[in-house]
Amino acid sequence: MRILLIVSGGIAAYKSLELIRLLRGRDHSVTCVLTGNGGQFVTPLSLQALSESKVYTDLFSLTDESEMGHIQLSRSADLVVIAPASADILAKMAAGLADDLASTVLLATDKPVLAAPAMNVRMWLHAATQDNVARLAARGVRFVGPDEGAMACNEFGPGRLSEPPAILHAIETFFNASKPLSGRHVLITSGPTHEPIDPVRYIANRSSGRQGHAIAAAVAVLGARVTLVSGPVSVATPAGVTLRAVETAAQMLEACRAALPADVAIFAAAVADWRVTNAAGDKIKKVPGGPPPAFELVANPDILATIAATGPLRPRLVIGFAAETADLMENAQSKRIRKNADWIIANDVSPETGIMGGEENAVHLITPDGVEDWPRMAKDTVAQRLAARIVVALQ
Ligand code: C5P
Repeated sequence: MRILLIVSGGIAAYKSLELIRLLRGRDHSVTCVLTGNGGQFVTPLSLQALSESKVYTDLFSLTDESEMGHIQLSRSADLVVIAPASADILAKMAAGLADDLASTVLLATDKPVLAAPAMNVRMWLHAATQDNVARLAARGVRFVGPDEGAMACNEFGPGRLSEPPAILHAIETFFNASKPLSGRHVLITSGPTHEPIDPVRYIANRSSGRQGHAIAAAVAVLGARVTLVSGPVSVATPAGVTLRAVETAAQMLEACRAALPADVAIFAAAVADWRVTNAAGDKIKKVPGGPPPAFELVANPDILATIAATGPLRPRLVIGFAAETADLMENAQSKRIRKNADWIIANDVSPETGIMGGEENAVHLITPDGVEDWPRMAKDTVAQRLAARIVVALQ
């Protein structure tokens, strides 16, 4: 997990060093932002040595901004952690102030924020601080602590920074909740296949790979390890996904077999049903006035059905697509049984729907429990909904 750690001012700032050490020990990457007041208690050098990465301190630093602008910095993490979070930084955040690097990052970020407050007990209990904390919590900011105990200022009560192991625990609890597919392996096929006729010609179809790639992205965001076996497409490989690029159905099947075991397998590829048995080794010449070449076709292996029949290696959840232009539901229902899939996502790909190669999809999810008709929506949204259903199914 990538953590952006904001260290604000307070005597407890020294504990941020221990927190960085614990986070690094658990293989999380840590980038630090140190406020001016925080810099009175810990040095950029110690943060840098422990985090093993550059420490950012100044909103108007030319070198920092040219390396990584503050907007980019605010989005370059999975979680923003403020430890210690002073009364001042909580107030700035609540008010939406942006007058230094830390507060600007907090206003610009689109990432979740976890704050570990640390301050004098009177400051913590002050109505202003309590109002700010309530407002921030209502906006989705998470809190860990403060703990109760003796304070550096000789007072006693709530206001102590939570111990670094407790902050680490809060970070990892957040991580596990936001990554419900972590530890799961999801295999996805996507795109068309190209079946050669000769070295320069092939049989293909109009699949863009958009839906399969969107599903890969959606399950990767939820923490799954994803193997994406894709035919030739022009869509980008989603972040955090392992791509196995193939051309033919035979190669796609081999890549799928090699990727097992998997917890879930989703077959979104539009696999060519046939390949040319007598594909030519050299480019077929056009003979003026001569007969056109004859192609002999043979059926390709059914990748879904093969993987669904792999006995002990069969993924727990096998999901197929049924792209039809007629008798959609009947064909899809029988495909689920015939191919031994658990779920089938049925969609009408008649040209007038604009679905094949388009941005949107209108699908029906067929499970052993029945049929759900999903409204027409972006392929990304279909992917996110499907990913959420997979999380529930694996529980
Ligand atoms: O039989 P049909 O091609 O309509 O089946 C569609 C489903 O089966 C899709 O999930 C597709 O990815 C998968 N399939 C496959 N291998 C094939 C043909 C289809 O995995 N050779």
